[in-house]
Amino acid sequence: MSNSRNHNPGAVVAAVSASEPRAKSGDMPAATDASIRHLYVHIPFCARICPYCAFYKDLLDRSQTWRFCEAILRELDQTRRSFVISPETIYFGGGTPTALTTAQLELRQAEESFRSLRAAGFSNINVDLMFGLPGQTIDQWKATLGTSVALQPEHVSAYCLTYEEDTEFFVRHASGEFRQDADGDAEFFDMAMSILENAGYEHYEISNYARPGFSSVHNRAYWLGEDYLGIGPSAVSTVGTRRWQNVCDYRIYIDRVLSAQSPRGPGETLTDEMKRMERIALTLRTRDGVSASDLKHFAPQTNEFIALDLLRESNGNFVLTRKGKALADSVAEAFL
Ligand SMILES: C[S@@+](CC[C@H](N)C(=O)[O-])C[C@H]1O[C@@H](n2cnc3c(N)ncnc32)[C@H](O)[C@@H]1O
Ligand code: SF4
Repeated sequence: MSNSRNHNPGAVVAAVSASEPRAKSGDMPAATDASIRHLYVHIPFCARICPYCAFYKDLLDRSQTWRFCEAILRELDQTRRSFVISPETIYFGGGTPTALTTAQLELRQAEESFRSLRAAGFSNINVDLMFGLPGQTIDQWKATLGTSVALQPEHVSAYCLTYEEDTEFFVRHASGEFRQDADGDAEFFDMAMSILENAGYEHYEISNYARPGFSSVHNRAYWLGEDYLGIGPSAVSTVGTRRWQNVCDYRIYIDRVLSAQSPRGPGETLTDEMKRMERIALTLRTRDGVSASDLKHFAPQTNEFIALDLLRESNGNFVLTRKGKALADSVAEAFL
């Protein structure tokens, strides 16, 4: 089953730990005239820690949030000395549900929270769902999808649980307490596609559905390989052939930024081949698919997938069929 957590810290990048050295100035791309059009800001605070989540986050400590905000603004200022930033999209990611109280975060309170947001005037709301969870039944999943559709959100994301290292769920999976069930996951995925598409949502990326006109513009920039800057602890940036990640510890991040030091890790240089592979892996998951030119060296594999009804051609691109979507990771692997 396939997953795509499209928040910036999940971008394809080697993890950079807090103890790694700060970036040398030579690691950074030279100042550029080309403006950066996509900004990601990572707010790492969560009201509580989900046992399956491997993203960088920490429990909310209200005594730190003002200093944190000051550091975010300071980093933005520092960054503007190197880059022209004229954002078309700004994505605030991380532990954002902390805007709600703990009571509002309780399972089964999601509906109420949704209605409060609508009543407060929000006209574009995403409902974020997960399936393949331990103990979750297909009937429960059907009911969850039904309730979600009835709320009429503009966007729905539905992620299949992955057992990420360094999480409680990973340990419980490794000990045999939780089991992954590929067939069960495929059934959940199929049900999500059927119910959401029947309700008028476009399945525009493996884990994302939107009413026409409401697909995520910010995530599209990642999928198309555009430049983006990440602000905040653990945020990833990619500009031209350079990619780097900020230190994954908000206290160290604050200290560095507020003492005029760089929060950036050492970074890496992306080769054309690395960029092409990443583009294939990401665009294959989207409704528009992979450009034929990116797959020109893979004619035998492409033909085989077409024969197996996993891929189809559309407007000069190769797109996953419904059957192919359930096997997206395996199809992508054949091209990498
Ligand atoms: C890390 S969260 C960040 C935004 C926000 N804190 C939230 O929980 O929605 C981004 C998405 O990743 C999903 N997620 C986190 N860990 C996951 C895992 N192990 N498997 C699948 N999805 C996961 C969450 O459900 C959420 O949809
Ligand atoms: S609220 Fe989101 S970021 Fe925080 S632990 Fe849960 S899944 Fe991770």
